[in-house]
Amino acid sequence: MRIDIITLFPEMFEGPFNHSIIQRAKKKNLVEIYIHQLRDFGIGKHKQVDDYAYSGGAGMVMMIEPIATIIESLKNERAYDEIIYTSPDGKLLDQPMANKLSTFQNIIILCGHYKGIDERIREHYITTEISIGNYVLSGGELAAAVITDSMVRLIPGVLGNEVSALSDSFQDQLISPPVYTRPRNFKGWEVPDILLSGNERKISEWKLDQSLKRTRERRPDLLNE
Ligand code: ADE
Repeated sequence: MRIDIITLFPEMFEGPFNHSIIQRAKKKNLVEIYIHQLRDFGIGKHKQVDDYAYSGGAGMVMMIEPIATIIESLKNERAYDEIIYTSPDGKLLDQPMANKLSTFQNIIILCGHYKGIDERIREHYITTEISIGNYVLSGGELAAAVITDSMVRLIPGVLGNEVSALSDSFQDQLISPPVYTRPRNFKGWEVPDILLSGNERKISEWKLDQSLKRTRERRPDLLNE
């Protein structure tokens, strides 16, 4: 998979993309991530990328030309499955969406900023708008990092143990059961006996039971979907 991210703040991705699972996926050549500085495509001596909104109103709007230039130059090189715009107006990211995105070859993510982007970009270039939750972030960078993480970890070979992605919370619309490790007793707080019983069938039943109980208690909305 190849992911092209368009942003005014490339440094914001240094943390999220250079550690842990994403770093490993890059090293294994399972994903290529390119971060493009939008300002490089800005207009004039000052590399302008935003301007006042027609008809006024507070806040600056990202201009169409710099974004059109970079998106068109990327599209000239290869076909993109999806051109994503991060926005609180978008469709809410969930596990089925991450699963689908993880099957794609080439994706562009445009990070939103300021008051928004010129509507014509959304009309003519963006194929899908994604929100990561019902709250407003300062910019689209954190959302782009979240979307990228959720899809890259699902690419076959990225996680050491393929089973572990399938048993994630939400993959089956259930919250994961509790897990424990040593010591068996800490300050009198015991690990449930069943997990030490060696009875695989009983353990599986217990895990499913715990998942259902937790989902009912914490996220009943998942059971209604
Ligand atoms: N930009 C600002 N808020 C956002 C959100 N909740 N999701 C995606 N992009 C955003």
